[in-house]
Amino acid sequence: MAVTVIDHPLAQVLLTALRDRSTPPPLFRLIAKRLSLILCVEATRAIPTTPVRIETPLRPTAGNRLEPLVAVPILRAGLGMLEAVTELFPEVSVGYLGLERDHATFEPSLYYSKLPPLENRTALLLDPMLATGGSAAAACSALEAGGPRHITLLSVVAAPEGIARLQAAHPAVDVYTVAIDEGLDANAYIVPGLGDFGDRLFGT
Ligand code: PRP
Ligand code: URA
Repeated sequence: MAVTVIDHPLAQVLLTALRDRSTPPPLFRLIAKRLSLILCVEATRAIPTTPVRIETPLRPTAGNRLEPLVAVPILRAGLGMLEAVTELFPEVSVGYLGLERDHATFEPSLYYSKLPPLENRTALLLDPMLATGGSAAAACSALEAGGPRHITLLSVVAAPEGIARLQAAHPAVDVYTVAIDEGLDANAYIVPGLGDFGDRLFGT
């Protein structure tokens, strides 16, 4: 598993604003989308393309066409990353996975799944918080059942514990994140982190 930390200064400045507890939900949503645009561009560097021949107004030349791509946000928080992906890749097929962590065990349960065909496709899994790694690992299991060519997880903040769990369960999955934080607190929240992404995104 390759883990790439986006060290672009703009990404780090945007993450600082997300971490700031005084950032209100409307601004949080805007910044989450901007950061997701950067993450998405970086995370799709290696997606497959097909060579095509086209004609410019002057002469024929070689170009590239995108292979079909699938994006799957994990509800709820991953929804804050989806618009960035659909703006960059308007042809993307979108699936949804609903996963919620149990408050006592921190283990995820799957309450919704609606996935498009995944066979031989590149799947972008969208979940801003990689904490214990339980949700991401469960989501990858659900995606792998569909036979994708490759899975890339786009995360905003990752904990070392989550990276280790995902690496053990799904070594072929690649991760793009903006920060690897210190670890988890007693409630399995990432520290310093940014709090509950879903609550801050949706004002709950
Ligand atoms: C959050 C977050 C991730 C998950 C990460 O979701 O959006 O999906 O926790 O934690 P993990 O790595 O320990 O599994 P949550 O369960 O709070 O649901 P929500 O997005 O609906 O609030
Ligand atoms: N989910 C969140 O939204 N934040 C955390 O820190 C951990 C899980």
